[in-house]
Amino acid sequence: MSRLARRALLALAALVPLGLAHPAAAETFPSRTITVIVPFAAGGPTDTVTRLVAESMSRDLGQTVVVENAGGAGGTIGAQRVAQARPDGYTLLLHHIGMATTPTLYRRLAYDPVGGFETVGLVTEVPMTLIARKDFPATTLAEAVAVIRRDREKLNYANAGIGAASHLCGLLLMKAVDAPMTTVPFRGTGPAMQEVLSGRIDLMCDQTTNTTEQINAGAVKVFAVTTPERLPALPNVPTSAEAGLAEFQVSIWHGLYAPKGTPAEVTARLSQSLQTALRDPKLIARFAELGTTPVAQEMATPEAHRKFWLADIAKWKPIIQAAGQYAD
Ligand code: MLT
Repeated sequence: MSRLARRALLALAALVPLGLAHPAAAETFPSRTITVIVPFAAGGPTDTVTRLVAESMSRDLGQTVVVENAGGAGGTIGAQRVAQARPDGYTLLLHHIGMATTPTLYRRLAYDPVGGFETVGLVTEVPMTLIARKDFPATTLAEAVAVIRRDREKLNYANAGIGAASHLCGLLLMKAVDAPMTTVPFRGTGPAMQEVLSGRIDLMCDQTTNTTEQINAGAVKVFAVTTPERLPALPNVPTSAEAGLAEFQVSIWHGLYAPKGTPAEVTARLSQSLQTALRDPKLIARFAELGTTPVAQEMATPEAHRKFWLADIAKWKPIIQAAGQYAD
């Protein structure tokens, strides 16, 4: 072997540990189907957002992007799947604010809820709505609060497990009205919505991506949206501040993650594709129908996502520790 060839080989060998020996991988990425894990049941808000993003990214990447649901345990079952997946960009996670609460709420996880992931980019920030079964004995938020304060644990409130958006929103509501309810956990608010529609569940706080169409169809009652401004998709629904509960405000950010060790060129390619999807008029129109909007392009980057995520973990840690309610 010539000295030049030997030197080239040695140089290449030195690049492998740095992951820089993946230019070929990055250049050809993706060369097969990508799977995005949703850590909640099918048909729910995170599933809805993910399927819209996956469809648009698959058009851009020229490869199928499939969505797989792995619900349960407040989203930690699906997150663990991805933290322990091969770091090659073909297994991703689309999760939400749960990634900011899990590190404090869960103390005995079989994976590292922060160090186990690379960030790809933020996706959207979804407002929430307080809804109830159609025959719930209240019409306004003030009346609903009176019923909650009167009936307390006799009322059942649905959520998608500890650390889920619907759990956090429930905590904020019960704190704001200073009255507990009986919590009923589901693998996602998709299946929980069926129980609200059937009348077996009294109340739920859920993302507009799961509630808007039920609200506009008159299939559920709605008392407020948890954002400072009313939503174009729900013009007749008052804000919680308008309805007299200003402290009951929250919205649910969503982000795309890859396993720790996924090459930077691969997460950069995925982020580029995510940005393209978030500019897609078809996706933007459907998001608007469901009461949400894509994040700004500069937030759909690995760096901006990580900065935002770490800041949110730091925000929720003292709140959760003060409440002293842990998942395990
Ligand atoms: C879901 O997709 O089911 C939700 O995101 C659940 C939740 O966090 O409330």
